[in-house]
Amino acid sequence: MAKEIWKPGNLLNPVPAVMLSCARPGEKPNIITVAWTGTVCSEPPMLSVAIRPDRYSHGIIRETGEFVLNLTSARLVKAADLCGVRSGRDTDKFREARLTPGEAPHMNLAPSIAESPVSLECRVTQILPLGCHDLFLAEIVGVLVDDSLIEESGRLRLDKADLTAYMHGRYYRLGEELGTYGYSVRRKPPAKPPAAPKKKSAPKVRNA
Ligand SMILES: Cc1cc2nc3c(=O)[nH]c(=O)nc-3n(C[C@H](O)[C@H](O)[C@H](O)COP(=O)(O)O)c2cc1C
Repeated sequence: MAKEIWKPGNLLNPVPAVMLSCARPGEKPNIITVAWTGTVCSEPPMLSVAIRPDRYSHGIIRETGEFVLNLTSARLVKAADLCGVRSGRDTDKFREARLTPGEAPHMNLAPSIAESPVSLECRVTQILPLGCHDLFLAEIVGVLVDDSLIEESGRLRLDKADLTAYMHGRYYRLGEELGTYGYSVRRKPPAKPPAAPKKKSAPKVRNA
């Protein structure tokens, strides 16, 4: 396979384009779409979001130390795009994107987005200036899950949430499952012995 050598760039793909909701006293709540986000620790559960200091949301998150990350289902992609191209300085994005501020029991002010299938309530633990973006490290202090995704057994069916990915400037719906964690090394169930060849039965003789 021949390869071209390119200059350094952000080609880690695909990524989730999530909607971060936040609020500070005396102002309408806001939503910023964030693709530079990731899981960074399991215990405690933590994630990161990288946000440019000139974003309206940056000041809100810095001041309040909290936000909610809302996962984007296919029906919310248009709203996520809108929240990524309009600023809360100029518009009420909840209203413009027809989204509803939802419950967020662990937050002081930040709402969740009621229409999102999964919302992660986050408390900021560190802010690292990196360059053009500041990295907010945050602990996930609460999780809200659409109850239609939970089976009677308690199993979460995230595969039913119709989640999306963002890749090189385009949004995609997730597709086919290709395997499960560890399936490459999992012992396969013993193959069934080949069926014994069928004995040729004598031709049926009909009674006249
Ligand atoms: C798909 C997508 C992903 C984005 N990811 C980020 C990101 O990770 N960090 C960031 O600072 N801005 C990101 N943006 C841009 C902001 O969402 C955008 O500037 C937004 O208008 C800022 O809103 P605010 O001024 O209300 O905070 C993204 C935009 C889109 C459309």
